[in-house]
Amino acid sequence: MKVVMIGAGYVGLVSGSCFAEFGADVVCVDVVEEKIAALNSGVMPIYEPGLDDLVARNVAAGRLRFSTDLSAHVGAADLVFMAVGTPSRRGDGHADLKYLYAAAEALAPCLSGYTVIVDKSTVPVGTAREVARIIRQHNPEADFDVASNPEFLREGAAIRDFTRPDRVVIGVESERAEALLRALYRPLNLRETPILATNLESAELIKYASNAFLAVKISFINEISDLCERVDADVHAVAKGMGMDGRIGGKFLHPGPGYGGSCFPKDTLALSRIAQEHGASSRVVSAAIEANAAQKARMIQKIRRALGGSEAGKTIAVLGLAFKPETDDMRDSPALSILPSLMEKGATIRAHDPEAMGEAANLLPPGVQFCQDSYDAAQGADAVVLMTEWNAYRNLDLPRLRGIMRQPMMIDLRNIYDADIAAEYGFSYFPVGRREHHLPIE
Ligand code: NAD
Ligand code: UGA
Repeated sequence: MKVVMIGAGYVGLVSGSCFAEFGADVVCVDVVEEKIAALNSGVMPIYEPGLDDLVARNVAAGRLRFSTDLSAHVGAADLVFMAVGTPSRRGDGHADLKYLYAAAEALAPCLSGYTVIVDKSTVPVGTAREVARIIRQHNPEADFDVASNPEFLREGAAIRDFTRPDRVVIGVESERAEALLRALYRPLNLRETPILATNLESAELIKYASNAFLAVKISFINEISDLCERVDADVHAVAKGMGMDGRIGGKFLHPGPGYGGSCFPKDTLALSRIAQEHGASSRVVSAAIEANAAQKARMIQKIRRALGGSEAGKTIAVLGLAFKPETDDMRDSPALSILPSLMEKGATIRAHDPEAMGEAANLLPPGVQFCQDSYDAAQGADAVVLMTEWNAYRNLDLPRLRGIMRQPMMIDLRNIYDADIAAEYGFSYFPVGRREHHLPIE
């Protein structure tokens, strides 16, 4: 089966490589020449664990290629996937479909023989039909169907999520398109992966509803963590007790500095805009968006309070900048709103991230001192803020850390440590929704 994947980003590159691993003949096409040149010389444009090996294996097997030339490959394809970005449109929060529609326009004249055009990007309800209209407009003779095949992978675990998904959703309107998509995903039959076929609109909405529901779950536990701090409850115990109820489930109940990333923030906003456009209410999702902003603001207050009411003149070591571990993606990372606020009030930031410092340097205000590792960052610091739960920060040499800091203070926005460990090693400790540890006043 021949597949063209338009867009070689976090989703396109992983999906294309995994389809090649499933046995398809895949060409990933991107408009960014440097990206394709890098891929053709074996260099990954993003950090995603396992991706380099997966790509190398499939390139060597002749099943995976990279190109900037859409027209050279679309004609031979059975399926053309679109995995281009759909960011928030500036000003109104709607999903910006300009990249997707440009891709549809570009591919239309190149079609030859029956082809299924598949939206893998996260797109508002009605987009697949609009793509069909654009293709018909640009190539009235084309023999094609459109389909929606939303992607549920998480960055940092993308290959595992793609090859062992909880479900595959395909929105289709023709048996022929459904048969081709089912054939492409056939290797997942071995794992008895459910494949849910729906109409186009339902598939498009399943994606937004899923992301929004997960965002609601996170915002819910983040609000509960605030309450825990006020009533001396432990948010981990609360989440565990809630999660033991099979109807609730324990996943995505980990409190933190607020959800970030390339999808939850933009997709919650887009869903509320879609609802608005169709006259439906989306109060729960709107509340999750508000609660997420409040959580980030609360983290700034937590840091300020820990530092005695003012961050002015203080040096803060920040461990982790990416929105989650195992990715270099900085899009909507909580660090991007928390650090500038601290800097504005006169704090000096010494930061480290294992993979995201390059991208972070483009997005954070000038003046952030990027450091070689955790200990370099902590030199002379008044506090260490654990912003992202990378493995490298889970087992810090606490005596060493204490020895190089101006004062031993840990503000743990991911609850990696706990008050007892902090007490044992002589740190004051400020987690999220759990017991703090304060050092005796000398
Ligand atoms: P990305 O920005 O990493 O990649 C998009 C790629 O598309 C870029 O490389 C860009 O150069 C390329 N592109 C844009 N226009 C093009 C065109 N006309 N022809 C060829 N290439 C073009 O984005 P992403 O994170 O991979 O997200 C893509 C879509 O998948 C979005 O809709 C997103 O919401 C959705 N999604 C993302 C994730 C994730 O974890 N990142 C997970 C599920 C779904
Ligand atoms: C998320 C979804 O999990 C994927 O299913 C979806 O495909 C993807 O968005 C998308 O549409 O792009 P991702 O953003 O890569 O994946 O990462 P998550 O692991 O979901 O984390 C998102 C944010 O929520 C991170 O900032 C993370 O720290 C935060 N989070 C997550 C919490 O604060 N608590 C949790 O319990 C879980």
